Amino acid sequence: MITKVKVKSPANIAFIKYWGQKSKELVLPYHDSFSMNLSDCYSIVELEITDDPKQNEMYVKKYKAKKHEKSSKEAIEKVAKFFSMVKDYLGVKEGKGFIIQSENSFPQKAGIASSASFYSALTLAIVEVFDKNISEAELSALARLSGSGSACRSIPTGFTWWHKGVGENTTELLKSSYAESIADVDYWDLVDVVLILNPDEKKTGSQEGHTGAAGSTFFADRLLGLDNRVQEIREAFDQKDFKRFGKLIEEDTLSMHMVMMTQQPPLYFWSGKTLEIMKKTVELREWGVEAYYTIDAGENVHVICQKKDEEKIITYFKKQPEVQEMIVNYPAAGAHVLEIA
Ligand code: DP6
Repeated sequence: MITKVKVKSPANIAFIKYWGQKSKELVLPYHDSFSMNLSDCYSIVELEITDDPKQNEMYVKKYKAKKHEKSSKEAIEKVAKFFSMVKDYLGVKEGKGFIIQSENSFPQKAGIASSASFYSALTLAIVEVFDKNISEAELSALARLSGSGSACRSIPTGFTWWHKGVGENTTELLKSSYAESIADVDYWDLVDVVLILNPDEKKTGSQEGHTGAAGSTFFADRLLGLDNRVQEIREAFDQKDFKRFGKLIEEDTLSMHMVMMTQQPPLYFWSGKTLEIMKKTVELREWGVEAYYTIDAGENVHVICQKKDEEKIITYFKKQPEVQEMIVNYPAAGAHVLEIA
């Protein structure tokens, strides 16, 4: 019998962002989104199951911390709820408890999708520890139900596409909203240079933020433009047309942040440093270096380039006063098992 599983799963950076939920309960987005798994921003989650259903423990080793620390009661309760939901889905009747040890290779809650890497890893770990066989699409849909919707995009390999889901009823919608790989890691040599301007944890989590999105006057506008952008980005990706691709990812970032800043209460994730780095990225292009920014729900900036420009971009941003640290990422595999005991 398996009692312990160790899983590694990447964070992902979205090129078409997910913002706003059609259904909070089912964690359903309004539209498709598309991302790349990150090689150097990941979580490693070790899950041990115990026979005492009341024994729910979780320890997290944060970025650069020396040791694991006990998680808050609130964090454990959230995980316990998810653990029990996945267990029910898998048809596991026995009551079980858990001991989770998790660690991140990057700052958490700083707009680098730490919940996506954690929850995608945890979902796979639960399925493995109960020795169940489900399809990748089902696994991805389950990860979505953690509440961290973008976790579903960290399950498949490389570049992944999250289908918004279609259906007449809850069961159909639940299953049809999942992510699948549209290209493997070696399809395109894209690089995501994450520029850490501030490693501190943000005040508002994405899950709280999604709720207000539809109230923004720009939300309907964003949805109107999305069908086109989604189609265009897919074409640019298929043709490996980096200039067109880059233009579209910046457009999508701006469109999402416009919604964020105009929803109630407004979410201003950018700082002055963020804006400086955005301008510097545009300036780099004027000098012939192909770099484009994208920003999630945080202050830090992801600069996307092709491998041929990586060194120039790293050298340039190392010298910028806004940048505290950099994490360089290449396309990576999705969630996978490291050890089973
Ligand atoms: C701005 O609800 O998936 O990153 O739970 O914090 O990982 P977390 O976020 P989630 O929303 C992600 C929002 C986004 C855009 C994106 O990744 O698509």
